[in-house]
Amino acid sequence: MTAQVDGTPFRTEWGVAPRRAPLVPPVPRESGDLARDGAVCVIADLQPTGISALTRLMTGPRFTDLAASLPATVPFVGPETQERARGAPFAARIGANENVFGPSPRAVIAMKRAASEIWRYGDPENHDLKTALAAHHAIPAENIVVGEGIDALLGYLVRLLVSPGDRIVTSNGAYPTFNFHVAGYGGELVTVPYRGDHEDPVALIEKAGAVDAKLIYLANPDNPMGTRHSASVVAAMINAVPDGSLLVLDEAYLEFAPDDTAPEFDVTAARVIRFRTFSKAYGMAGARVGYGIGALELIASFNKIRNHFGMNRMSLAGAQAALADGAHLADTLTKVAAARERIKTIAADSGLQVVPSATNFVAVDCGADGEFARRVLGGLIERGLFVRMPFVAPQDRCIRVTIGTEADLDLLASALPQALEAARA
Ligand SMILES: Cc1ncc(COP(=O)(O)O)c(C=O)c1O
Repeated sequence: MTAQVDGTPFRTEWGVAPRRAPLVPPVPRESGDLARDGAVCVIADLQPTGISALTRLMTGPRFTDLAASLPATVPFVGPETQERARGAPFAARIGANENVFGPSPRAVIAMKRAASEIWRYGDPENHDLKTALAAHHAIPAENIVVGEGIDALLGYLVRLLVSPGDRIVTSNGAYPTFNFHVAGYGGELVTVPYRGDHEDPVALIEKAGAVDAKLIYLANPDNPMGTRHSASVVAAMINAVPDGSLLVLDEAYLEFAPDDTAPEFDVTAARVIRFRTFSKAYGMAGARVGYGIGALELIASFNKIRNHFGMNRMSLAGAQAALADGAHLADTLTKVAAARERIKTIAADSGLQVVPSATNFVAVDCGADGEFARRVLGGLIERGLFVRMPFVAPQDRCIRVTIGTEADLDLLASALPQALEAARA
């Protein structure tokens, strides 16, 4: 087709996003000879509706094919969004696996001190925190990359390794932010089912070999079920990673888990990268501090693409102070363990069982299918409790309750029987 706009060949995004529906609505057919082949168009005989649609196409942003192909939905609806929608704040915020016990007071002091320095960018090398983490884990600082939470680091990792069409293996129903990044870079997600409420290391490895996966994702402990594998199982998995694959070992909840959950660090191991965060046990989710540990070449490669000024001074100072306050961490872990027991008791009082948890949340088995659990969840939300649930069967028979304060769990104790009764009615 020989079409031009003001003498310039005109390009539309149509027809170039074959795998999913295009974001840009097609111009009405009566508008003329607009090309659907992504090349050029003729505007001579356009009707007014077509002209305005064409103007929109010409002046609007020209998304990449990939971005145009992504669904326009917001993947994560936060509690604040829900509060705005319901017109009232939640009485208990026990749904996002935040740590209600909060950061170390020493971290708070460090962040307050850093506040007056906030006019300065943070150190783009994150040197002091990296050095402190290196000492903490007894590994070289060169094997550590610091970033804006594990979520951002997952995004950088996928950007480094995943081209459109590359295959990635994860568990069906596992942590969705990873999937979000994979989709955002055009990767193809291949999933294996959970096995007995655990992610299945053997199935993940087998599937990775079968589909030549570039990345294999495992969260240990897992979100949303809270289960974990022992260090020896994870070590065996690392050894079995097929040629050309990298294991993404997300250890966001590691500090809450029993001692034999994580294998020793081996920074020469080139087929695994491990992620940790200050969001969970250290109670600093809003500060956005996470880190990755891996082999030199992989860690250095983050410098090619990461946001070098992504970390702010308050977060860096807070994380460093939090890391140094082992007593606060120990106190938090004691409180979390006690609250896990309390949630188990609250569930048992309503005739429900819980999935044993190695995290700061507990999957409460509502004893029926996903529909029923969704009704229970709805009942809790109606009663002012922000709680979430797994999104894939059979794990969606559960609701996922984050550890709360005594007062939060008092509310759960009174609301759960009511929500169950309403769900059964
Ligand atoms: C398994 C898992 N990984 C990572 C994260 C996010 O960590 P960060 O706050 O460091 O981005 C979460 C948060 O819920 C999680 O459940």
